[in-house]
Amino acid sequence: MPAFGALNGAMPTTDDDSDRALRWRVAAESDLSLDEHEAIAAMLARSFDDWSFWFVGGRSWAGIEPEARVLATTASRAIVAHAGFRRMFVRAPDGPLLVAAVGLIAVSPEAREAGVGSALMRRLETTLRTLDVPLAVVQAGEESAAFFGACGWAAADEATVTYVDYSVNGAGVTVTDDSGWRVLPLGDTAERFRGAISWDGQLV
Ligand SMILES: CC(C)(COP(=O)(O)OP(=O)(O)OC[C@H]1O[C@@H](n2cnc3c(N)ncnc32)[C@H](O)[C@@H]1OP(=O)(O)O)[C@@H](O)C(=O)NCCC(=O)NCCS
Repeated sequence: MPAFGALNGAMPTTDDDSDRALRWRVAAESDLSLDEHEAIAAMLARSFDDWSFWFVGGRSWAGIEPEARVLATTASRAIVAHAGFRRMFVRAPDGPLLVAAVGLIAVSPEAREAGVGSALMRRLETTLRTLDVPLAVVQAGEESAAFFGACGWAAADEATVTYVDYSVNGAGVTVTDDSGWRVLPLGDTAERFRGAISWDGQLV
């Protein structure tokens, strides 16, 4: 399995178009400092208005902690774009399925609608392909359906997923949800993420 340093070698650290001024990197969770967690948490709190109570102090995640982040920063080190992922097995109808649980996808409000989000998703995809993950999964609301569609993610309308709900304020509660699932096939087919899926944990 490639080290995360190799992942950074797999993608350009700057772009030649809309996000020319940004510096991109993949950061493994253990390589993030407390200052970086705090900066990510502050950026996520501004990006997800309704859920800002999750991202307090150094808590830079909401459900399960990602194993790594794709990050874009300005020259002055402000975080402009962020995505988190964790590889895990879920139980699908035809057997265990390795997925990248993806979440915390955000572009800071002042940088939106300029192509940064699609640049973020391209880098996330490059990273996951380098890791040989066969399928990426996200759950997102209807308001971001067009964004994910534009980035090549397909709706997994036939998946009914049982997972542990976000539980920053208490014990986890198991919920079953058949809405908002989107997949990016990277080697496996989207059809494997259909029917009754046991996620066995929280979402990223
Ligand atoms: C969703 C988000 C990451 C998009 O970032 P962005 O930098 O504005 O996206 P881009 O400018 O790269 O847009 C990429 C494509 O998505 C489309 N798109 C982006 N936001 C959209 C929206 N709210 N409604 C419809 N289409 C949208 C763009 O039109 C563009 O399509 P095109 O390539 O066909 O022109 C950003 O709005 C955000 O951080 N939102 C808050 C957090 C969130 O909802 N995250 C997603 C769920 S985890």
